[in-house]
Amino acid sequence: MQRRKLVKVLGISAFAVSASGFTLITKDGNITTTCTTSQDMLGPFFKEGAPFRNDLRYDGNTSEIPLKVIGQLFGGDCKTPLSNVVIDIWHCDHKKHYDMESDEYRCRGKITTDAQGFYSFVTFVPPPYGGRPKHIHYLIKDIEGYEELATQLYFKGDKRIKKNNWVKYPWDEKRILEVYKNENDMSEVKLDLYLSAKV
Ligand SMILES: [Fe+2]
Repeated sequence: MQRRKLVKVLGISAFAVSASGFTLITKDGNITTTCTTSQDMLGPFFKEGAPFRNDLRYDGNTSEIPLKVIGQLFGGDCKTPLSNVVIDIWHCDHKKHYDMESDEYRCRGKITTDAQGFYSFVTFVPPPYGGRPKHIHYLIKDIEGYEELATQLYFKGDKRIKKNNWVKYPWDEKRILEVYKNENDMSEVKLDLYLSAKV
């Protein structure tokens, strides 16, 4: 039974390696990966040209509970912080709509990591849409020496996170985050990001 299970896991992992460039480590029947943040689909709603801002909230959405998202960006060695890197973030609005048309760039922004690689922004937990779990998109691109990273943040306890949707590999669990209260009694989640160095 143990062997059968391992073979099955290896079977799906082989696909992940070619699609996302992960390094899989198999030891004693357990499979782990390097620290690199797993890729997720870019989706059809990315839009170039979002403004630099750390607050994605907007007028008319006062009922939503503010959420602070924090984290740190690291390089391919899993420990060197990457400073001054631009990250695109976006999610749907409270009506499950992605703003593709207006100059408002609602629920879209660019943020920049600080000298220690830290980033943060304030928004709210977006609603689920189209059968997908609640999620926030990230895109980091055009960083010299590193592969592009398109990924998504999910929320622990979301019943829409099932085996057969996009979150299905063991290392994807690192992107399913628990909301906690920070020192200012604000809801917060933390997602550290690890880029893959180009070889
Ligand atoms: Fe989305």
